[in-house]
Amino acid sequence: MSGKRILLIVGGGIAAYKSLELIRLLAKDGIAARVILTKAGAEFVTPLSLGSLSGDRVYQDLFNLTDEAEMGHIELSRSADLVVVSPATADLMAKAANGLANDLASTALLATDKPVLMAPAMNVRMWGHAATKRNVAQLRADGVTVMEPDEGAMACGEFGPGRLPEPQRIFEQIKTMLEGPAEYGRLSGFRAIVTAGPTREPMDPVRFLSNHSSGKQGYAIAEALAKLGADVRLVTGPTQLPIPAGVTAVKVETALEMHKAVQAGLPADIFVGVAAVADWRPATRATGKLKLKGGKDDGVTLKLVENPDILKSVATRKKDRPRLVVGFAAETSDVEKHAKAKLTRKGCDWVVANDVSGDVMGGAENEILLVSKGKVERWPRMGKADVAQKLAERIAGAFYDPESGAAE
Ligand code: C5P
Repeated sequence: MSGKRILLIVGGGIAAYKSLELIRLLAKDGIAARVILTKAGAEFVTPLSLGSLSGDRVYQDLFNLTDEAEMGHIELSRSADLVVVSPATADLMAKAANGLANDLASTALLATDKPVLMAPAMNVRMWGHAATKRNVAQLRADGVTVMEPDEGAMACGEFGPGRLPEPQRIFEQIKTMLEGPAEYGRLSGFRAIVTAGPTREPMDPVRFLSNHSSGKQGYAIAEALAKLGADVRLVTGPTQLPIPAGVTAVKVETALEMHKAVQAGLPADIFVGVAAVADWRPATRATGKLKLKGGKDDGVTLKLVENPDILKSVATRKKDRPRLVVGFAAETSDVEKHAKAKLTRKGCDWVVANDVSGDVMGGAENEILLVSKGKVERWPRMGKADVAQKLAERIAGAFYDPESGAAE
């Protein structure tokens, strides 16, 4: 990818040294990096080592006359194809989310007219703090791509999400973003339906059967498809999540309603069934609240009937079957075996399978297998947004290069 250039802002944190590895990976691929080093960043990594690897001078000061004469801060912020902040500290993200500009890094972030990528790194509690969550949501709403941090042991001795994503993962994200508008428009003109979240199956006006699905993975997939230009209809059960930008949402409660909304959305080119549809619903729904009988019964028997299989009904359509039907398989054991069986039983083209025996449901990360006819691909553990982006790219790829199938 020669000829491309990024502006790399190195924030202060123990992970700052990883920016050296990132610059090396970029250089190997012909991508030049011009570096801004914050004051805190310079406590962890020297301008000399960054400059030696980038083959350029390192910019540090907003009010440095020599710097300004060489390249003004406005020009610096626009001289690249992409601005990357790595590590993105809680402080840098807070500044950028609020439009502060009191040093070179934050000024460049405010002045730039280029896409911005942030790779966060901070203590697990700082990452989980309501203020950081607010800032991340604001940055994403402003169009900044904020990666999910890695999870693991931290330099401070704690454990959890907050580690800087590995340089290889940041590098791949940079490449995706540098591929430019052509890549982003790859699915324009394609219609996609995505189901997400749980369903609720009422037994009376106040009680229902449901499950722990948060909707995170389905929403992320709807958003990633929309970013590639697809016209996305998100059919969603009840969740706490905001509707992603550029997506048309149809909110439903029950499996029957979800089924109806999906049918109404067809025809489509792509169907991705991520919803955790309740397999059964109470056979009857009492019109008034069911009452206790003051201990005079020996328990209540709830009769359940099967819900329609939405995925199967879409995948087995004779007329107007979407060209690509993707199902999800949440398993607690023998993931690969069950996923393969599901592919055939449901008639879909791909199954994205994951092990939900841990904290996947409702959690921020996912580790999946992509199963298509005769092929299985294992993806490393990553954030749900990264899974979504990778899957959306694979979906786009399948339309341009059908021979490639799902999983090489
Ligand atoms: O059979 P199982 O529920 O494990 O299959 C999961 C896949 O099937 C998911 O993609 C889910 O969205 C879809 N599904 C569906 N309708 C159902 C049950 C599951 O669309 N009633």
